[in-house]
Amino acid sequence: VTKADFVVVANRLPVDRAPEGQGEGGWRRSPGGLVTALEPVMRSVDGAWVGWPGKADLEVAPFDFDGTRLVPVTLSADDVEQYYEGFSNDTIWPLYHDVIAAPRYRRVWWDSYERVNRRFAEAAARTAATGATVWVQDYQLQLVPKMLREMRPDLTIGYFHHIPFPAYGLYSQLPWRRLVLEGLLGADVIGFQRVADAGNFARAVRRLFHYETRASGIRVPGENGTSHVALAKAFPISIDAEHFADLARRPDIQARAVEIREGLGNPKKVLLGVDRLDYTKGIRHRLKAYGELLGDDRVSVEDVTLVQVASPSRERVQAYIELRDEIELTVTRVNGDHDTLNHTAIRYLHQGLPREEMVALYLAADVMLVTALRDGMNLVAKEYVACRVDNRGTLVLSEFAGAADELGTALRVNPHDIDTLKDTIVRAIEMPPAEQGRRMRAMRKKVLDNDVAKWSSDFLKALAQAKARS
Ligand code: G6P
Repeated sequence: VTKADFVVVANRLPVDRAPEGQGEGGWRRSPGGLVTALEPVMRSVDGAWVGWPGKADLEVAPFDFDGTRLVPVTLSADDVEQYYEGFSNDTIWPLYHDVIAAPRYRRVWWDSYERVNRRFAEAAARTAATGATVWVQDYQLQLVPKMLREMRPDLTIGYFHHIPFPAYGLYSQLPWRRLVLEGLLGADVIGFQRVADAGNFARAVRRLFHYETRASGIRVPGENGTSHVALAKAFPISIDAEHFADLARRPDIQARAVEIREGLGNPKKVLLGVDRLDYTKGIRHRLKAYGELLGDDRVSVEDVTLVQVASPSRERVQAYIELRDEIELTVTRVNGDHDTLNHTAIRYLHQGLPREEMVALYLAADVMLVTALRDGMNLVAKEYVACRVDNRGTLVLSEFAGAADELGTALRVNPHDIDTLKDTIVRAIEMPPAEQGRRMRAMRKKVLDNDVAKWSSDFLKALAQAKARS
Protein backbone atom coordinates (compact mmCIF):
# COMPACT_ATOMS: atom_id res chain seq x y z
CA VAL A 1 0.00 0.00 0.00
CA THR A 2 1.14 3.54 -0.74
CA LYS A 3 1.53 5.66 2.36
CA ALA A 4 0.43 9.28 2.56
CA ASP A 5 2.45 12.33 3.63
CA PHE A 6 -0.65 14.10 4.85
CA VAL A 7 -3.44 12.32 6.72
CA VAL A 8 -6.72 13.72 8.01
CA VAL A 9 -8.37 11.73 10.79
CA ALA A 10 -12.02 12.57 11.47
CA ASN A 11 -15.01 10.72 12.85
CA ARG A 12 -16.67 10.86 9.44
CA LEU A 13 -15.29 10.19 5.99
CA PRO A 14 -16.01 13.04 3.54
CA VAL A 15 -18.47 10.74 1.69
CA ASP A 16 -21.84 9.09 2.31
CA ARG A 17 -23.41 6.03 0.74
CA ALA A 18 -25.28 7.29 -2.34
CA PRO A 19 -28.82 6.09 -3.16
CA GLU A 20 -29.00 3.07 -5.49
CA GLY A 21 -27.57 3.80 -8.95
CA GLN A 22 -26.11 7.21 -8.03
CA GLY A 23 -22.67 8.54 -7.04
CA GLU A 24 -19.14 7.44 -7.86
CA GLY A 25 -18.76 3.75 -6.93
CA GLY A 26 -21.85 4.04 -4.72
CA TRP A 27 -20.47 7.01 -2.74
CA ARG A 28 -21.12 10.73 -2.88
CA ARG A 29 -19.48 13.71 -1.21
CA SER A 30 -21.29 14.52 2.03
CA PRO A 31 -22.45 18.01 3.04
CA GLY A 32 -21.56 19.46 6.45
CA GLY A 33 -19.19 22.06 7.82
CA LEU A 34 -16.09 19.98 8.37
CA VAL A 35 -16.14 18.34 4.95
CA THR A 36 -16.75 21.70 3.31
CA ALA A 37 -13.87 23.18 5.26
CA LEU A 38 -11.31 20.51 4.38
CA GLU A 39 -12.40 19.76 0.81
CA PRO A 40 -10.21 22.50 -0.77
CA VAL A 41 -7.21 21.44 1.35
CA MET A 42 -7.51 17.81 0.36
CA ARG A 43 -7.77 18.73 -3.30
CA SER A 44 -4.43 20.56 -3.17
CA VAL A 45 -2.32 17.86 -1.45
CA ASP A 46 -1.77 14.16 -2.00
CA GLY A 47 -3.50 13.05 1.14
CA ALA A 48 -5.50 10.35 2.82
CA TRP A 49 -8.58 10.63 5.01
CA VAL A 50 -9.27 8.17 7.83
CA GLY A 51 -12.89 8.08 9.02
CA TRP A 52 -16.13 6.23 9.63
CA PRO A 53 -18.35 5.61 6.58
CA GLY A 54 -21.44 6.62 8.60
CA LYS A 55 -23.26 3.27 8.94
CA ALA A 56 -22.87 0.50 11.51
CA ASP A 57 -20.99 -2.68 10.54
CA LEU A 58 -19.99 -1.42 7.12
CA GLU A 59 -16.67 -3.06 6.22
CA VAL A 60 -15.01 -1.37 3.27
CA ALA A 61 -11.38 -1.60 2.03
CA PRO A 62 -9.50 1.69 1.45
CA PHE A 63 -10.48 3.28 -1.88
CA ASP A 64 -9.86 6.41 -3.95
CA PHE A 65 -12.58 9.01 -4.31
CA ASP A 66 -12.21 12.20 -6.31
CA GLY A 67 -8.41 12.18 -5.95
CA THR A 68 -8.34 11.43 -2.20
CA ARG A 69 -7.45 8.10 -0.60
CA LEU A 70 -10.19 7.14 1.86
CA VAL A 71 -9.46 4.75 4.72
CA PRO A 72 -12.71 3.54 6.33
CA VAL A 73 -12.84 2.63 10.05
CA THR A 74 -15.64 0.15 10.81
CA LEU A 75 -17.92 0.84 13.79
CA SER A 76 -20.14 -1.94 15.13
CA ALA A 77 -23.70 -1.18 16.24
CA ASP A 78 -22.38 -1.12 19.85
CA ASP A 79 -19.60 1.31 18.89
CA VAL A 80 -22.16 3.62 17.29
CA GLU A 81 -24.33 3.51 20.39
CA GLN A 82 -21.56 3.92 22.97
CA TYR A 83 -18.70 5.83 21.32
CA TYR A 84 -20.68 8.02 18.88
CA GLU A 85 -24.22 8.52 20.24
CA GLY A 86 -23.14 7.97 23.85
CA PHE A 87 -19.79 9.45 24.83
CA SER A 88 -19.34 11.82 21.89
CA ASN A 89 -22.87 13.17 21.62
CA ASP A 90 -24.48 12.58 25.03
CA THR A 91 -21.42 13.32 27.22
CA ILE A 92 -18.86 15.56 25.51
CA TRP A 93 -21.22 17.51 23.22
CA PRO A 94 -23.55 18.80 25.99
CA LEU A 95 -20.68 19.28 28.49
CA TYR A 96 -18.61 21.33 26.04
CA HIS A 97 -21.67 23.41 25.06
CA ASP A 98 -22.02 24.69 28.60
CA VAL A 99 -24.44 21.99 29.76
CA ILE A 100 -27.41 23.34 27.73
CA ALA A 101 -28.56 19.72 27.99
CA ALA A 102 -27.45 17.51 30.88
CA PRO A 103 -24.36 15.41 30.03
CA ARG A 104 -24.56 11.71 30.97
CA TYR A 105 -21.43 10.13 32.40
CA ARG A 106 -21.37 6.39 31.75
CA ARG A 107 -18.32 4.23 32.24
CA VAL A 108 -19.19 1.76 29.46
CA TRP A 109 -19.38 4.71 27.03
CA TRP A 110 -15.93 5.89 28.10
CA ASP A 111 -14.49 2.37 27.58
CA SER A 112 -15.91 2.31 24.09
CA TYR A 113 -14.59 5.84 23.37
CA GLU A 114 -11.08 4.71 24.33
CA ARG A 115 -11.29 1.53 22.25
CA VAL A 116 -12.61 3.30 19.17
CA ASN A 117 -10.09 6.16 19.47
CA ARG A 118 -7.35 3.50 19.50
CA ARG A 119 -8.69 1.98 16.28
CA PHE A 120 -8.63 5.39 14.59
CA ALA A 121 -5.07 5.95 15.84
CA GLU A 122 -4.01 2.53 14.50
CA ALA A 123 -5.55 3.22 11.11
CA ALA A 124 -3.75 6.58 10.95
CA ALA A 125 -0.46 4.97 12.00
CA ARG A 126 -0.82 2.40 9.18
CA THR A 127 -1.65 5.07 6.61
CA ALA A 128 1.00 7.72 7.39
CA ALA A 129 4.40 7.67 5.66
CA THR A 130 7.59 8.25 7.68
CA GLY A 131 7.69 11.82 8.98
CA ALA A 132 4.15 12.53 7.72
CA THR A 133 1.79 15.17 9.07
CA VAL A 134 -1.44 13.92 10.62
CA TRP A 135 -4.33 16.28 11.32
CA VAL A 136 -6.87 14.94 13.82
CA GLN A 137 -10.32 16.58 13.83
CA ASP A 138 -12.73 17.25 16.64
CA TYR A 139 -14.13 16.07 19.94
CA GLN A 140 -14.93 12.50 18.89
CA LEU A 141 -11.16 11.80 18.69
CA GLN A 142 -9.57 13.63 21.63
CA LEU A 143 -7.47 10.63 22.68
CA VAL A 144 -5.97 10.02 19.23
CA PRO A 145 -3.08 12.54 19.42
CA LYS A 146 -1.44 10.85 22.43
CA MET A 147 -2.11 7.31 21.19
CA LEU A 148 -0.67 8.17 17.78
CA ARG A 149 2.43 9.83 19.26
CA GLU A 150 3.17 6.66 21.23
CA MET A 151 2.77 4.48 18.14
CA ARG A 152 4.60 6.81 15.76
CA PRO A 153 6.96 9.37 17.39
CA ASP A 154 8.20 10.38 13.92
CA LEU A 155 4.89 12.04 12.96
CA THR A 156 3.90 15.68 13.21
CA ILE A 157 0.49 15.70 14.87
CA GLY A 158 -2.08 18.49 14.75
CA TYR A 159 -5.51 18.53 16.38
CA PHE A 160 -8.36 20.94 15.70
CA HIS A 161 -11.29 21.31 18.08
CA HIS A 162 -14.36 22.46 16.12
CA ILE A 163 -16.62 22.99 19.13
CA PRO A 164 -16.24 25.17 22.25
CA PHE A 165 -13.94 24.21 25.11
CA PRO A 166 -15.76 24.96 28.38
CA ALA A 167 -14.62 26.85 31.48
CA TYR A 168 -12.93 24.72 34.14
CA GLY A 169 -15.94 24.92 36.47
CA LEU A 170 -17.85 22.82 33.94
CA TYR A 171 -14.99 20.82 32.45
CA SER A 172 -14.07 19.54 35.90
CA GLN A 173 -17.33 17.52 35.98
CA LEU A 174 -15.82 15.05 33.52
CA PRO A 175 -14.73 11.91 35.41
CA TRP A 176 -11.99 11.36 32.80
CA ARG A 177 -10.84 15.01 32.72
CA ARG A 178 -7.12 14.24 33.12
CA LEU A 179 -7.10 11.48 30.49
CA VAL A 180 -8.85 13.67 27.92
CA LEU A 181 -6.36 16.52 28.43
CA GLU A 182 -3.47 14.07 28.16
CA GLY A 183 -4.95 12.77 24.92
CA LEU A 184 -5.13 16.27 23.41
CA LEU A 185 -1.67 17.21 24.68
CA GLY A 186 -0.23 14.47 22.47
CA ALA A 187 -0.53 16.95 19.57
CA ASP A 188 2.14 19.48 18.58
CA VAL A 189 -0.56 22.10 17.94
CA ILE A 190 -4.05 22.08 19.46
CA GLY A 191 -6.26 24.49 17.52
CA PHE A 192 -9.42 26.13 18.87
CA GLN A 193 -12.10 28.37 17.36
CA ARG A 194 -11.91 31.27 19.81
CA VAL A 195 -9.19 32.80 21.96
CA ALA A 196 -11.54 32.10 24.90
CA ASP A 197 -11.55 28.34 24.10
CA ALA A 198 -7.75 28.17 23.99
CA GLY A 199 -7.69 30.05 27.31
CA ASN A 200 -10.15 27.63 28.93
CA PHE A 201 -8.02 24.71 27.75
CA ALA A 202 -4.77 26.23 29.06
CA ARG A 203 -6.40 26.94 32.44
CA ALA A 204 -7.69 23.36 32.70
CA VAL A 205 -4.16 22.07 32.00
CA ARG A 206 -2.76 24.37 34.69
CA ARG A 207 -5.33 23.16 37.23
CA LEU A 208 -4.70 19.47 36.61
CA PHE A 209 -1.00 19.23 35.73
CA HIS A 210 2.27 20.90 36.72
CA TYR A 211 3.72 21.33 33.26
CA GLU A 212 6.13 24.10 32.34
CA THR A 213 4.42 26.69 30.12
CA ARG A 214 6.13 29.17 27.78
CA ALA A 215 5.02 31.38 24.90
CA SER A 216 5.90 28.53 22.52
CA GLY A 217 3.59 26.14 24.37
CA ILE A 218 3.29 23.58 27.13
CA ARG A 219 6.18 21.17 27.73
CA VAL A 220 4.61 17.69 27.91
CA PRO A 221 6.63 14.77 29.28
CA GLY A 222 6.45 11.53 27.25
CA GLU A 223 7.79 7.99 27.58
CA ASN A 224 11.39 7.32 28.78
CA GLY A 225 12.44 10.86 29.58
CA THR A 226 11.31 12.35 26.26
CA SER A 227 9.11 15.43 26.00
CA HIS A 228 7.51 17.67 23.37
CA VAL A 229 5.96 21.12 23.28
CA ALA A 230 2.20 21.43 22.65
CA LEU A 231 0.91 24.80 21.46
CA ALA A 232 -2.76 25.71 22.18
CA LYS A 233 -3.97 28.56 19.97
CA ALA A 234 -7.06 29.97 18.23
CA PHE A 235 -7.51 29.40 14.47
CA PRO A 236 -11.10 30.46 13.64
CA ILE A 237 -12.44 28.19 10.89
CA SER A 238 -14.10 29.57 7.79
CA ILE A 239 -15.68 28.63 4.45
CA ASP A 240 -14.70 28.68 0.78
CA ALA A 241 -16.11 32.21 0.56
CA GLU A 242 -15.31 32.79 -3.13
CA HIS A 243 -17.12 29.58 -4.07
CA PHE A 244 -20.29 30.74 -2.27
CA ALA A 245 -20.03 34.21 -3.84
CA ASP A 246 -19.65 32.61 -7.29
CA LEU A 247 -22.80 30.55 -6.75
CA ALA A 248 -24.64 33.66 -5.57
CA ARG A 249 -23.71 35.45 -8.83
CA ARG A 250 -25.15 32.67 -11.00
CA PRO A 251 -28.26 33.92 -12.90
CA ASP A 252 -30.11 30.61 -12.42
CA ILE A 253 -29.59 30.77 -8.64
CA GLN A 254 -30.67 34.42 -8.51
CA ALA A 255 -33.77 33.49 -10.50
CA ARG A 256 -34.44 30.70 -8.03
CA ALA A 257 -34.23 33.23 -5.16
CA VAL A 258 -36.97 35.31 -6.81
CA GLU A 259 -39.03 32.16 -7.31
CA ILE A 260 -38.65 31.22 -3.63
CA ARG A 261 -40.00 34.62 -2.57
CA GLU A 262 -42.93 34.24 -4.93
CA GLY A 263 -43.62 30.80 -3.50
CA LEU A 264 -43.77 32.36 -0.05
CA GLY A 265 -46.44 34.79 -1.28
CA ASN A 266 -44.02 37.69 -1.87
CA PRO A 267 -43.90 38.91 1.72
CA LYS A 268 -42.23 42.26 2.39
CA LYS A 269 -39.59 40.57 4.53
CA VAL A 270 -38.27 37.03 4.68
CA LEU A 271 -36.53 35.88 7.88
CA LEU A 272 -34.37 32.76 7.72
CA GLY A 273 -32.92 30.22 10.15
CA VAL A 274 -30.69 27.35 8.96
CA ASP A 275 -29.37 24.82 11.46
CA ARG A 276 -28.76 21.20 12.21
CA LEU A 277 -31.65 20.32 14.51
CA ASP A 278 -29.63 20.73 17.70
CA TYR A 279 -30.41 22.15 21.16
CA THR A 280 -27.29 24.33 20.97
CA LYS A 281 -28.73 26.36 18.08
CA GLY A 282 -31.38 28.33 19.98
CA ILE A 283 -34.12 27.43 17.49
CA ARG A 284 -36.80 27.50 20.19
CA HIS A 285 -35.72 30.95 21.41
CA ARG A 286 -35.94 32.25 17.85
CA LEU A 287 -39.41 30.75 17.27
CA LYS A 288 -40.60 32.11 20.61
CA ALA A 289 -39.40 35.64 19.84
CA TYR A 290 -41.01 35.60 16.41
CA GLY A 291 -44.26 34.11 17.75
CA GLU A 292 -44.44 36.87 20.37
CA LEU A 293 -43.82 39.57 17.76
CA LEU A 294 -46.82 38.23 15.82
CA GLY A 295 -48.88 38.04 19.02
CA ASP A 296 -47.96 41.63 19.95
CA ASP A 297 -48.92 42.80 16.42
CA ARG A 298 -45.42 44.21 15.94
CA VAL A 299 -45.14 42.17 12.74
CA SER A 300 -47.95 40.79 10.61
CA VAL A 301 -48.11 37.44 8.90
CA GLU A 302 -48.98 39.20 5.62
CA ASP A 303 -45.71 41.16 5.68
CA VAL A 304 -43.20 38.78 7.27
CA THR A 305 -42.46 35.07 6.90
CA LEU A 306 -39.92 33.00 8.77
CA VAL A 307 -38.31 30.09 6.91
CA GLN A 308 -36.71 27.60 9.28
CA VAL A 309 -34.58 24.84 7.78
CA ALA A 310 -33.66 22.28 10.45
CA SER A 311 -31.63 19.41 9.05
CA PRO A 312 -32.04 16.03 10.77
CA SER A 313 -29.19 15.20 13.15
CA ARG A 314 -28.30 12.47 15.70
CA GLU A 315 -31.84 11.22 15.59
CA ARG A 316 -31.35 8.34 18.02
CA VAL A 317 -30.04 10.50 20.90
CA GLN A 318 -32.83 11.21 23.41
CA ALA A 319 -32.20 14.96 23.77
CA TYR A 320 -32.54 15.35 19.98
CA ILE A 321 -35.76 13.33 19.87
CA GLU A 322 -37.27 15.57 22.57
CA LEU A 323 -36.02 18.75 20.91
CA ARG A 324 -37.64 17.81 17.62
CA ASP A 325 -40.98 17.28 19.35
CA GLU A 326 -40.74 20.63 21.14
CA ILE A 327 -39.82 22.53 17.99
CA GLU A 328 -42.51 20.93 15.90
CA LEU A 329 -45.10 21.61 18.60
CA THR A 330 -44.01 25.26 18.72
CA VAL A 331 -44.12 25.64 14.93
CA THR A 332 -47.61 24.17 14.80
CA ARG A 333 -48.84 26.42 17.63
CA VAL A 334 -47.42 29.62 16.16
CA ASN A 335 -48.82 28.77 12.75
CA GLY A 336 -52.16 27.71 14.17
CA ASP A 337 -52.48 31.00 16.05
CA HIS A 338 -51.29 33.33 13.29
CA ASP A 339 -51.68 31.83 9.81
CA THR A 340 -54.34 33.07 7.43
CA LEU A 341 -55.64 30.97 4.57
CA ASN A 342 -53.14 32.73 2.30
CA HIS A 343 -50.13 33.30 4.59
CA THR A 344 -48.00 31.08 6.75
CA ALA A 345 -46.01 32.43 9.69
CA ILE A 346 -43.32 29.74 9.73
CA ARG A 347 -42.24 27.57 6.80
CA TYR A 348 -40.53 24.68 8.52
CA LEU A 349 -38.39 22.13 6.67
CA HIS A 350 -36.96 19.14 8.50
CA GLN A 351 -34.56 18.37 5.65
CA GLY A 352 -31.09 19.08 4.44
CA LEU A 353 -31.04 21.12 1.23
CA PRO A 354 -28.52 20.99 -1.65
CA ARG A 355 -25.95 23.77 -1.62
CA GLU A 356 -27.40 25.62 -4.65
CA GLU A 357 -30.82 25.73 -3.02
CA MET A 358 -29.23 27.02 0.21
CA VAL A 359 -27.53 29.86 -1.66
CA ALA A 360 -30.83 30.82 -3.35
CA LEU A 361 -32.47 30.84 0.08
CA TYR A 362 -29.73 33.09 1.51
CA LEU A 363 -30.34 35.48 -1.39
CA ALA A 364 -34.09 35.39 -0.75
CA ALA A 365 -33.69 36.23 2.96
CA ASP A 366 -33.73 39.83 4.22
CA VAL A 367 -32.77 38.78 7.73
CA MET A 368 -30.63 35.81 8.78
CA LEU A 369 -31.20 34.66 12.36
CA VAL A 370 -28.29 32.89 14.09
CA THR A 371 -29.35 32.61 17.72
CA ALA A 372 -27.12 29.79 19.00
CA LEU A 373 -26.90 29.39 22.78
CA ARG A 374 -23.36 28.10 22.28
CA ASP A 375 -21.61 27.34 19.00
CA GLY A 376 -17.95 26.69 18.15
CA MET A 377 -18.05 28.94 15.08
CA ASN A 378 -21.34 28.76 13.06
CA LEU A 379 -20.50 28.60 9.39
CA VAL A 380 -24.08 29.44 8.34
CA ALA A 381 -23.43 33.04 9.44
CA LYS A 382 -20.34 33.18 7.23
CA GLU A 383 -22.14 31.52 4.29
CA TYR A 384 -24.94 34.10 4.43
CA VAL A 385 -22.41 36.95 4.40
CA ALA A 386 -20.37 35.40 1.55
CA CYS A 387 -23.52 35.01 -0.56
CA ARG A 388 -24.72 38.61 -0.19
CA VAL A 389 -22.84 39.86 -3.25
CA ASP A 390 -25.47 42.63 -3.42
CA ASN A 391 -24.35 43.95 0.02
CA ARG A 392 -27.93 43.65 1.25
CA GLY A 393 -29.47 41.72 4.11
CA THR A 394 -29.00 41.79 7.87
CA LEU A 395 -27.36 39.22 10.09
CA VAL A 396 -28.65 38.81 13.65
CA LEU A 397 -25.87 36.94 15.43
CA SER A 398 -25.63 35.42 18.89
CA GLU A 399 -22.67 36.57 20.97
CA PHE A 400 -22.31 32.90 22.01
CA ALA A 401 -21.30 31.82 18.49
CA GLY A 402 -17.60 31.90 17.63
CA ALA A 403 -18.41 33.90 14.49
CA ALA A 404 -19.29 36.89 16.73
CA ASP A 405 -15.57 37.46 17.40
CA GLU A 406 -15.02 38.29 13.71
CA LEU A 407 -18.37 39.64 12.48
CA GLY A 408 -18.40 42.82 14.56
CA THR A 409 -20.99 44.68 12.44
CA ALA A 410 -23.69 42.01 12.74
CA LEU A 411 -26.57 42.83 15.10
CA ARG A 412 -25.32 40.99 18.17
CA VAL A 413 -27.81 39.41 20.56
CA ASN A 414 -28.04 37.42 23.73
CA PRO A 415 -30.66 34.84 22.65
CA HIS A 416 -31.69 34.19 26.27
CA ASP A 417 -32.94 37.78 26.46
CA ILE A 418 -36.19 37.34 24.52
CA ASP A 419 -37.29 41.00 24.75
CA THR A 420 -34.01 42.27 23.31
CA LEU A 421 -34.06 39.51 20.70
CA LYS A 422 -37.54 40.71 19.64
CA ASP A 423 -36.34 44.33 19.44
CA THR A 424 -33.32 43.24 17.43
CA ILE A 425 -35.44 41.29 14.95
CA VAL A 426 -37.65 44.36 14.46
CA ARG A 427 -34.57 46.53 14.03
CA ALA A 428 -33.24 44.10 11.41
CA ILE A 429 -36.57 44.11 9.55
CA GLU A 430 -36.61 47.91 9.50
CA MET A 431 -32.92 48.52 8.76
CA PRO A 432 -32.44 51.05 5.92
CA PRO A 433 -30.55 49.75 2.86
CA ALA A 434 -27.61 52.13 3.42
CA GLU A 435 -26.99 50.74 6.91
CA GLN A 436 -27.40 47.16 5.64
CA GLY A 437 -24.76 47.91 3.02
CA ARG A 438 -22.32 49.46 5.45
CA ARG A 439 -22.55 46.55 7.87
CA MET A 440 -22.56 43.85 5.19
CA ARG A 441 -19.52 45.27 3.36
CA ALA A 442 -17.44 45.16 6.54
CA MET A 443 -18.49 41.56 7.24
CA ARG A 444 -17.88 40.49 3.65
CA LYS A 445 -14.37 41.83 3.75
CA LYS A 446 -13.68 39.83 6.92
CA VAL A 447 -15.08 36.60 5.47
CA LEU A 448 -13.45 36.95 2.04
CA ASP A 449 -10.04 37.84 3.55
CA ASN A 450 -10.20 34.97 6.05
CA ASP A 451 -11.43 31.98 4.09
CA VAL A 452 -10.95 28.30 4.78
CA ALA A 453 -7.76 28.14 2.71
CA LYS A 454 -6.22 30.70 5.06
CA TRP A 455 -7.51 28.75 8.08
CA SER A 456 -5.84 25.52 7.03
CA SER A 457 -2.63 27.15 5.82
CA ASP A 458 -2.31 29.16 9.08
CA PHE A 459 -2.83 25.99 11.09
CA LEU A 460 -0.44 23.87 9.04
CA LYS A 461 2.22 26.60 9.10
CA ALA A 462 2.00 26.83 12.90
CA LEU A 463 2.19 23.03 13.03
CA ALA A 464 5.36 22.87 10.92
CA GLN A 465 6.98 25.60 13.04
CA ALA A 466 6.00 23.92 16.30
CA LYS A 467 7.49 20.61 15.18
CA ALA A 468 10.73 22.34 14.11
CA ARG A 469 11.05 23.95 17.56
CA SER A 470 10.10 20.89 19.62
C1 G6P B 1 -20.51 19.56 14.24
C2 G6P B 1 -19.24 18.84 14.69
C3 G6P B 1 -18.73 17.89 13.61
C4 G6P B 1 -19.86 16.98 13.14
C5 G6P B 1 -21.06 17.78 12.68
C6 G6P B 1 -22.24 16.91 12.25
O1 G6P B 1 -20.21 20.48 13.25
O2 G6P B 1 -18.26 19.78 15.07
O3 G6P B 1 -17.66 17.13 14.10
O4 G6P B 1 -19.41 16.13 12.11
O5 G6P B 1 -21.47 18.63 13.75
O6 G6P B 1 -22.61 16.01 13.27
P1 G6P B 1 -22.57 14.43 13.09
O7 G6P B 1 -22.78 13.87 14.45
O8 G6P B 1 -23.69 14.12 12.14
O9 G6P B 1 -21.24 14.06 12.50
